[in-house]
Amino acid sequence: MRIIITDSYENMGLEAANIVAGQIYLKPDSVLGLATGSTPVSMYQRLAAVHKSVGLDFSEVTTFNLDEYIGMAPENPQSYHYFMQEYFFRHINIRPENVFLPDGMADDVVAEGNRYEKLIAAKGGIDLQVLGIGQNAHIGFNEPDVKFAATTHKVELDEETIQANSRFFKNSDEVPRYAISMGIKTIMMAEHVILLANGRNKAEAVYKAVCGDVTPEAPASILQLHRDVALILDREAAALLPASIPGVPIRRK
Ligand code: GLP
Repeated sequence: MRIIITDSYENMGLEAANIVAGQIYLKPDSVLGLATGSTPVSMYQRLAAVHKSVGLDFSEVTTFNLDEYIGMAPENPQSYHYFMQEYFFRHINIRPENVFLPDGMADDVVAEGNRYEKLIAAKGGIDLQVLGIGQNAHIGFNEPDVKFAATTHKVELDEETIQANSRFFKNSDEVPRYAISMGIKTIMMAEHVILLANGRNKAEAVYKAVCGDVTPEAPASILQLHRDVALILDREAAALLPASIPGVPIRRK
């Protein structure tokens, strides 16, 4: 694990975008794992800007998103399908046939999870997975007490997550109670992982991910066992981390 601490939300996005762009320059047909939420928006904006200014080419890139709400159709503005189009895909030259998200409308969620896993494997696995983190240290929609061995599966959202995500809805009653999410195993099989976090409300989750015990109670803590993971934080999200952590290089920018 390594950590990059930046001085702003924009610079967190810039650092993350540099890593993603580097991945694509080195391997133009990269398979990216992507996240939704407000955290990665500055990274997506930056990548779109690099595409526009110097032609960063997404034409051979394939993407797999982490999750989708169950019962949410792609054209629903609150779906993650819609979010990705709006904030990223419509600004770059990715091919629609290379974009994948779990189907929240699938009748058989178990079969959909299996289909998604097979698709990822058929594309050669994920080269670089982008993650945000929930206030309860969830990654994707893998809530506390998740089974580390799970692959793409149906999850019931925590009350804390429902409250946190209610800001995107009229009220918390409208937030779906279930989602389909890549599992921890799916995430851990990615070649490289970057986790982005900004804001004081993420500081405890970041502390648990980096310094806490590796436990299903803090799903992101499993990343301590990943062979190549970088945390890209702003100062507020890094506020509870000690100045130095044995075995974890920290770069301040
Ligand atoms: C959401 C998503 C996660 C995301 C997290 C944080 O519920 N399922 O993938 O990382 O919660 O969201 P935000 O970036 O808006 O704080």
